[in-house]
Amino acid sequence: MTNHKITVSLADRSYPVLVGSGVAKDVEKFLPITAKRAVIVTQENIPFEIKLSLPHTTVLIGNGEQFKSLQTIDIISQQFAKFGLTRSDVVIGVGGGMVTDVAGFAAASWHRGTAVVQIPTTLVGMVDAAIGGKTGVNIAQGKNLVGAFWQPSAVLCDIDALKTLPDRETRCGLGEVAKYHFLAGDDLLALELSARIARCVEIKATIVSADEREQGGRAVLNYGHTLAHALERSSDFALAHGEAVAIGMIFAAHLAHSLQRIDDARLAYHYKVIRDSYGLGVSIPDKFDRRALIDLMRLDKKAIDGLTFVLDGTNGVEIVSDIGEKYLDQAFDAMQLP
Ligand SMILES: NC(=O)c1ccc[n+]([C@@H]2O[C@H](COP(=O)([O-])OP(=O)(O)OC[C@H]3O[C@@H](n4cnc5c(N)ncnc54)[C@H](O)[C@@H]3O)[C@@H](O)[C@H]2O)c1
Ligand SMILES: [Zn+2]
Repeated sequence: MTNHKITVSLADRSYPVLVGSGVAKDVEKFLPITAKRAVIVTQENIPFEIKLSLPHTTVLIGNGEQFKSLQTIDIISQQFAKFGLTRSDVVIGVGGGMVTDVAGFAAASWHRGTAVVQIPTTLVGMVDAAIGGKTGVNIAQGKNLVGAFWQPSAVLCDIDALKTLPDRETRCGLGEVAKYHFLAGDDLLALELSARIARCVEIKATIVSADEREQGGRAVLNYGHTLAHALERSSDFALAHGEAVAIGMIFAAHLAHSLQRIDDARLAYHYKVIRDSYGLGVSIPDKFDRRALIDLMRLDKKAIDGLTFVLDGTNGVEIVSDIGEKYLDQAFDAMQLP
């Protein structure tokens, strides 16, 4: 099997992303030459082992969003201090998006910025979270509100790690993989796993290179996410992110169709990819209340100018602001939510 190499191009912050079987075995080749020690940040239940010959220690953090916190950053930083980690050393994040977000933020703030190498072990981590330099933690008022843009020195997506991933986590990843079908317009279904992950990374890398700090184009990565965030919140996170994104993209397709931005065939293509190819759920469970979802969508971060969505159309996927509520109703009608 061939390995794939993608470069995230960001001038002096550019870095390689490797995708393939066994790529994490070469981790030492990707550490900064100044590094004399490393701290691995991971979780107890992640069975993926990283072998290092330089002096290192491992910090285990809690499992679950509630541990994506400033308290965890405090615990990690104290371990850095005890181990004597300096700014010329390196942090290695080994885990899902939760771990890479936390390890990245701990590295970003340790001595005002220490190198981090990310080894994502979930599909979400490989195609999304570990790429692009967004790091951070949650506070009581919301998810990811405290953080930093801190690009890694390298990202190693070793598909061997995915062998132990629970099915539901795989499904969540597929929600994000399906998203990339609509961002670049090519047929990812024709590719085998490593090549498909590599292509997702490449699409994200291109978007991030053009808009590192989300001042414009990077927002298209939120395709399907406006309704998804509302579904996650009003189900108290019983619906997982990737599952919600799948439904959210179907909703966005109906909305784009109501606004005559896409035709019947393009709407049908959304069902083909999301439901038929990836086997993801595409209907909004009856228990959700349409008006409550609309109220939550008005609170979305993007909604500066009225109800704002990322929508497909003849120019591709783009931000559309100030959408009339009647179009949302038409989309909900089409999805048969009472
Ligand atoms: N920074 C970004 O751009 C970005 C993008 C998308 C998501 N995120 C963040 O990523 C997080 C979600 O990431 P996630 O979906 O990877 O969830 P996660 O990190 O919570 O991992 C899901 C579960 O899988 C377990 N796990 C991880 N790897 C495993 C393996 N190889 N085998 C068995 N179990 C394994 C974890 O311990 C955890 O229980 C959220 O906090 C989200 O905010 C960040
Ligand atoms: Zn997402």
